[in-house]
Amino acid sequence: MPRKSLIAANWKMYKTPAEAKAFTDAFLSLVAGHDRDEIALFPSVTSLATVVAAVAGSNVSAGLQNMHFAEEGAYTGETSASMLLAVGATHTLIGHSERRQYFNETDEVVNKKLHTALKHGIIPVVCIGEVLAEREGGLTAEVLKTQIAGAFVGITAEAAAPIVIAYEPVWAIGTGKTATPEMAVEAHKIVRAEVAKLLGADVAAAVRILYGGSVKPENATALLGEEEIDGALVGGASLKADSFAAIVKY
Ligand code: PGA
Repeated sequence: MPRKSLIAANWKMYKTPAEAKAFTDAFLSLVAGHDRDEIALFPSVTSLATVVAAVAGSNVSAGLQNMHFAEEGAYTGETSASMLLAVGATHTLIGHSERRQYFNETDEVVNKKLHTALKHGIIPVVCIGEVLAEREGGLTAEVLKTQIAGAFVGITAEAAAPIVIAYEPVWAIGTGKTATPEMAVEAHKIVRAEVAKLLGADVAAAVRILYGGSVKPENATALLGEEEIDGALVGGASLKADSFAAIVKY
């Protein structure tokens, strides 16, 4: 069965609720009726409820950029799975490289968050990717395998169906440098093979692997046209409705 692509907007720490609403209103009319791909928006926590309300009944989903693994507790500044679900969101990013880099998220934390998301029926987008020194040192395959193995500890094939993986080479995020389609495909094949090793061929064949890192309207067709690339996680170019709609409709 062909995999349905997911094209996702990671707004990072941009957009107030009013700005998120203005984006969503403009964007929904641009992508109305688009059902070739799934579409998801990942606003900041304070805009999540606004975005959920604005996309209700449309072909667009909403999720958090980060979620805590605990059910609840004394974790100042964090958001739980139940809070995400209570506002009507359905997805969460897990282990984005900025979380790993600036907030010390390890593969172990990513793994705990993945378990929590699956337990609550939240669709997790698990982000992995190598930094420049690792690529230049020939370590890309090793890094990706380690991140996948770390994220998937204790995850069974039966539970894995909702999982989405985003391959985001860190050197390509926000830098304007994009992996070539060949580089992305090569990395995706390594990731898929690792998933097959851990969870079997069926899970590996079905799991969606998105590419992220300076995706824009100009390079979307070349990247998303690859059979191995099952969608995109878009940062900078997702902040404007026309630009993100152009990527969705590549
Ligand atoms: P970018 O960000 O598209 O601005 O490179 C992608 C991401 O961080 O998910």
